[in-house]
Amino acid sequence: MKKNWWQEVVVYQIYPRSFKDSNGDGIGDIRGMIEELDYLEKLGVGAIWLSPVYQSPNDDNGYDISDYEAIMDEFGTMEDMDEFLREANKRNIKIIMDLVVNHTSDEHQWFVEAKKGKDNPYRDYYVWADPAEDGGVPNDLRSTFSGSAWEFDEESGQYYLHLFSKKQPDLNWENDDMRQAVYEMMNFWIEKGIGGFRLDVIDLVGKKPLEEITGNGPRLHEFLQEMNQATFGNHDLLTVGETWGATPEIAKLYSNPERKELSMVFQFEHIGLDQQPGKEKWDLQPVDIAQLKEILTKWQTELGNEGWNSLFWNNHDLPRMVSRWGNDQDYRVESAKMLAILLHMMKGTPYIYQGEEIGMTNTPIRDISEAEDIETINMYNERLEKGYSKEEIIHSINAKGRDNARRPMAWNGEKQGGFTSGTPWIALNENYKEINVEAALNDTNSIFYTYQNLIQLRKDNPIMVWGSFELVDTVDQVFSYYRKYEGECWLIVTNFSNEEQPFISEDEIEEVIIQNDKEKITTLREITLRPWQAFVVKVK
Ligand code: NOJ
Repeated sequence: MKKNWWQEVVVYQIYPRSFKDSNGDGIGDIRGMIEELDYLEKLGVGAIWLSPVYQSPNDDNGYDISDYEAIMDEFGTMEDMDEFLREANKRNIKIIMDLVVNHTSDEHQWFVEAKKGKDNPYRDYYVWADPAEDGGVPNDLRSTFSGSAWEFDEESGQYYLHLFSKKQPDLNWENDDMRQAVYEMMNFWIEKGIGGFRLDVIDLVGKKPLEEITGNGPRLHEFLQEMNQATFGNHDLLTVGETWGATPEIAKLYSNPERKELSMVFQFEHIGLDQQPGKEKWDLQPVDIAQLKEILTKWQTELGNEGWNSLFWNNHDLPRMVSRWGNDQDYRVESAKMLAILLHMMKGTPYIYQGEEIGMTNTPIRDISEAEDIETINMYNERLEKGYSKEEIIHSINAKGRDNARRPMAWNGEKQGGFTSGTPWIALNENYKEINVEAALNDTNSIFYTYQNLIQLRKDNPIMVWGSFELVDTVDQVFSYYRKYEGECWLIVTNFSNEEQPFISEDEIEEVIIQNDKEKITTLREITLRPWQAFVVKVK
């Protein structure tokens, strides 16, 4: 496989609304991001995945786009965006734009036109269907944000499809003109010098809604190959698809370089492990570490040279991993560092979600009035109606709700954590006085420096990027593996639990590469790992 820059970098995700506010309106913005580029350079990342900054009525915080070639007023102007690109490029940081083309906002000009009537040239840009024989919805498709995926349009007597909110009508990828318009828009951004795209729910674009096929539809890969040719194919860009249903076999279809589709995909198999099988993400069960190891090992070994992994614990849709599978009470620092080491030592491109590098935690709410996220609020109302108790629902929200990751970044211990001089659009986590960037930078032992160290190690050691992966047989709660490359061998050992765990190996330590506590590791013979202990050693 040819070596690409996007295999070597570490990517940092910014959720602009919550990153840094520069003008006191309580909403993060582009000038705030420019102010903090030096911080990201210090961390060492080579690319930023930017959640949407386009014009949007914000029904789903920017994932409902009303103009792809304009910037959201609250975030700034196109001049600010151009400056952000220039300033990032100066620091060798590429900008990966979020490409949301499964749907638009209902306020996008295309949909405004489409609603005008069946004869409108834009009508077919969206998915319309006649009512069922009984006059009701065309079929049982459900929206990810609760309720039917079909919304009635009084004027034409037809329904339109929205796999997300009513204000996010699905685009009809069967329409050639629509696809060409999307490619033109992508080229507009490519010409600005961006570093690539993250493709929102891209597995849905081949849908056949009347046959109730949503993910992995028949023409999906044909569309992606067409897109590749029409847009990023001849540019050296990073493209990563969000693909919830991907198996390693499916991931190879997207990311085998010979097929000319995408660089890599986000797979979510491990992310579903703490949800009851066949149910929704809100139906909780504890994660089984043996299963986690099995799934991640499968992904590490099965792609081979026919694909590339993306590695992540967090994003703006997921709860904070240190609270979820780590321990944000007694072992916050240890478990956050352990999670970082475990992930960054695997094969693939690592992604860091803003605040992860300082160990930011989930923010429990007591009442639904404290929630902002449309998915959370709709689910709350739906489950209340179905008879669930308030307590049960709030418990699920605190474990899985998307607001957990969307609380403002804490920059210092001052008022509103230095995020804004005004009133933030959503309250900060109360722990911002202890958990903030300034405190992390002032403490040489902080989680931040573990991340910084891991990123530097990746730059200095090709084994971290290219080495093979081999799971080591251990007790369930210990996750250990080798990376091997050109005669060199690294052993990664992590304790994924609150208890001490045994570990035994015949290997001789040649050098300690990184560890998450101070006590230097000297032997591997028969050791007892402390809770959440993690280390990497070069072995003979
Ligand atoms: C996935 C995005 O990550 C999420 O935030 C959004 O709500 C849906 N796609 C719809 O765009």
